[in-house]
Amino acid sequence: MSAVLAAEAASASKSQESPAIAAVLLGTGVVGGAFLKLLNTPAAGSIRLVGAANSRRQQTQTEQLADRTLREKLKMHGDARNDGVLLGALDAHDASVKVIIDATASSTLALRHAEWLASGYHVVTANKSLAGGDLPGWRTLQAALANGGRYGDSATVGAGLPVISTLRRLRQCGDALLTLEGVFSGSLSYLFNQYDGSQPFSALLRRARELGYTEPDPRSDLSGEDVARKLLILARCAGFALRPDEVEVESLVPENLRGLDVEAFLSRLEELDGPLATRFAEAKARGGALRFLARLNQRGRARVGLVEVPATHPATRLYGTDNQFALSTTRYNTQPLVIQGPGAGPEVTAQALLGDVLALV
Ligand SMILES: NC(=O)c1ccc[n+]([C@@H]2O[C@H](COP(=O)([O-])OP(=O)(O)OC[C@H]3O[C@@H](n4cnc5c(N)ncnc54)[C@H](OP(=O)(O)O)[C@@H]3O)[C@@H](O)[C@H]2O)c1
Repeated sequence: MSAVLAAEAASASKSQESPAIAAVLLGTGVVGGAFLKLLNTPAAGSIRLVGAANSRRQQTQTEQLADRTLREKLKMHGDARNDGVLLGALDAHDASVKVIIDATASSTLALRHAEWLASGYHVVTANKSLAGGDLPGWRTLQAALANGGRYGDSATVGAGLPVISTLRRLRQCGDALLTLEGVFSGSLSYLFNQYDGSQPFSALLRRARELGYTEPDPRSDLSGEDVARKLLILARCAGFALRPDEVEVESLVPENLRGLDVEAFLSRLEELDGPLATRFAEAKARGGALRFLARLNQRGRARVGLVEVPATHPATRLYGTDNQFALSTTRYNTQPLVIQGPGAGPEVTAQALLGDVLALV
């Protein structure tokens, strides 16, 4: 056996004996389910899952956690939810690194991130509610981080495209963000990449929903709120401690459709068609295109909404559910630094979580 193979074998057997990282997974939905699959790959050999939970049930028993059908089983069986028991499972493990992985969208859980960090656990999250939420919550998080815990937030923006890490690295090197612009939503990217006036917007939206590109209630995407949360996260990483109400958000959902239940909204999607068709035709007549952009300028002014862009704009060269982030900085000031690629999807998001967990050791 070569020295390299021997070293790899020794390291693999060591990681089986004493995993360096003990982890609790909160959320076994689309992203959490993909993360569980990654845990069964050699890349995750140093991680031992000691607890997993959905919103109603949880599991801390070793054999049950190792079961490849854990996600399905948790839907029917398991103990009642109790965060204390999950933290107890982390405490009982002798791994040197203990991490809570939040693959939910729960704002209640997100409010506990700072407390967990202060108690000595690390937190890795796809949940944007804290870092992209109100300013006091974000400040509490910063205070907890100043005392040592690590917060893996790569999955919160661009499904793990290296955006947050790049921004932090640039700042660390003394560079400063001047402007940020881009398409931060996979579903809105798809909708406006496809919308060419040949079919009504509502038909396209129904198709996007069938393909799983939108949330079950597409207003979560069309409202622009999710994009606004991502812009807040990036703005704060760049040094602009903005409040949510400092982000101007243009919703694509007309006022009269906002209070309806989901079924009623879905039955009235055609009401979106007229106004968007008019804007599309006007843009086209001027040789432009419509894109749902997030923008941050040098003075910290933040806006999210539908923009008419020239045909040469970088956002007109996106495919599928691509995200795009164009960063102009003091050193990238002639041409922006552009990060682009699939900005949604369970596998890449779960990989971003895994990368953040592995980076803890
Ligand atoms: N899907 C993507 O491509 C993508 C990309 C980037 C980021 N994200 C983010 O990743 C997170 C998860 O997204 P998803 O698509 O996986 O959502 P999802 O399929 O709806 O799954 C959410 C999971 O969270 C669980 N949950 C809710 N409250 C909980 C609680 N208090 N304790 C434990 N579990 C709880 C749910 O439990 P039940 O099963 O019991 O309801 C469900 O298992 C969200 O914050 C989302 O914004 C998703």
